[in-house]
Parts: sequence; structure tokens; C-alpha cells
Amino acid sequence: MSEVIWGLGTSHVPSIGAAMDRGLHDDPVWSKLFAGYQPAREWLADRTPDVAVLVYNDHANGVDLDVVPTFGIGVADRYAVADEGFGRRAVPDVVGHPELSFHLLQSLVDDGFDMTVFRELDVDHGFTVPLSVWTPDPGDAWPCPVIPLMVNVISYPQPTAARCYALGQALGRALASYPEDITVGILGTGGMSHQLAGTRAGFINPTFDHMFLDAIEVDPEKLAALSREDYIREAGSEGIELIMWLVMRGAMNAEVTKVHTAYHVPASNTAAGLALFDNRAPARA
Ligand code: DHB
Ligand code: FE
Repeated sequence: MSEVIWGLGTSHVPSIGAAMDRGLHDDPVWSKLFAGYQPAREWLADRTPDVAVLVYNDHANGVDLDVVPTFGIGVADRYAVADEGFGRRAVPDVVGHPELSFHLLQSLVDDGFDMTVFRELDVDHGFTVPLSVWTPDPGDAWPCPVIPLMVNVISYPQPTAARCYALGQALGRALASYPEDITVGILGTGGMSHQLAGTRAGFINPTFDHMFLDAIEVDPEKLAALSREDYIREAGSEGIELIMWLVMRGAMNAEVTKVHTAYHVPASNTAAGLALFDNRAPARA
């Protein structure tokens, strides 16, 4: 079986990637955000899994808006970095793991999740920024193969938080039934509170964000019970991206150990959050 060793929830704001690409790590505008990431980066550097599953949303860069898969999975052996209008980020393309992808696809379909299948997919900031948050200096390659698991959060009706949590639980079962003994890291991306347009543009709700950061560890069912309207009201129209953290959390054990959390405002005009959980039971004294 494969073993989920950690789960990482993180924002994917594109300007975080742009700041890294321009070497602004120590710039006063960015240094606090990046300092918040450092303990997670150090912990993760010693715990590279065999494969990662990255739960993310495309922003009409890899897939046109005339096709909106509610849930999708990549089965390719490589994923190119998308050109979002400013050229491709100078980061490595993503190596996939088709064998595990096909196992997950079959298991999820058998479990009632009729996934859209991507044999080819360019991945945008929703994907590459979380990889940079994990691995700021990837060199020629990201630390391990990564499987994209796509969720529609940009076009109504988005899946419910409960459905995302159930997908995560099905993903956990799918990973557990993989015949090979491999380790897996899961990333849930997006959020925290943000609204990019309209009269509430710049909306930030730290009270909701901190509640979410606590509950994602100890009471994910509470977050799964919120409606999509609750997310949009409390976290902003794009803050609904947070439902993707529930896929990550659903694939983990009921009890997880918090390694590190960070919260910073502003990144772009959003709240950027990070939560890292160890899925291995603490050693008993
Ligand atoms: C921005 C874009 C995003 O996809 C997001 O999740 C947060 C911020 C932006 O363009 O600022
Ligand atoms: Fe986004």
C-alpha cells in the first residue's frame, strides 16, 4: 500500500511565484511571508515522498472555460508549465506518475467519483506556486513525481465542501489499495480569504481564516458542513478555493499532528495561509 506521510495546505497566489522568480525573498514586502514558510520547508526537505498528489484548480489556463470538469485527474507522464500571458515561469515541467494515476482513477471511479481524465495538461499558478512554496530552489526537477487532481472552484456550481472531503476520503482509500509500498505527500491548494473583483474586492476575513486553520486539523467535518455560499460569504468569491484543502485533509488520518501553520496578509490582495500536517502517528512513550 502507499502511505500518506504528510499533507500541506497552501495558498497559490501567482505573485508569490513571481516574487520568488525575481529573487525578492528578502524584499521587505515579501520577507515576512517567506519567513512564515521556512519551518515547513525545512521539515519537508527531510521528508521527500516517492510521489505527491496536488489538489488544485486551473484558472482557464490549462482548460478553456467552455469545458469545466468538476473533478479531474492527470494521467500523463509529464505536465508542461502553462503560459498565463507573461511566458512560462522558469521552473521545471512536472514529471507525472501514470501508473499511480491510473490506479487512483480506477479506484475513484469505482468509488463513485466520475473523474475527468487528462492525458495532456498544462499546469498554471494553482499548481506551480504550491510546488515553489514546498521547494523554493528545484533546480532541474521538482523533488518527486506529482499527480494533478483538479477541482472546479471558479465556475458555479462548484462541488460542495462535503463532496470535496468525501473525495479526499476516497483518495485515501485509493492510495491505501495501491499494490506497491510507496510514500505520498498531498497538497491542498488555494485560499485563504480573497475576492479579486467586484464591490468586495480585497475582502479579507482573518477570523474565518484562523477558524479554518484550526478546524482543518481537529474538526474537518465542521468545514465540510459549510455550504459554497458560506465559503463565498465568509472567505470571498475566490476564497472558496479553500474547499480543496478538504480533499487533502480527507485523505489523511482522523488524527494528524500539526507541524507548522503560517498566515500573512497581504499577498496580492489576499490572505495567504499555510498548514502542514504529519500523517504518521506520534511514537508512543
Ligand atoms: C490571485 C489569483 C489567484 O488564483 C488566487 O488564488 C489569488 C490571487 C491574483 O491574481 O492576485
Ligand atoms: Fe486561485
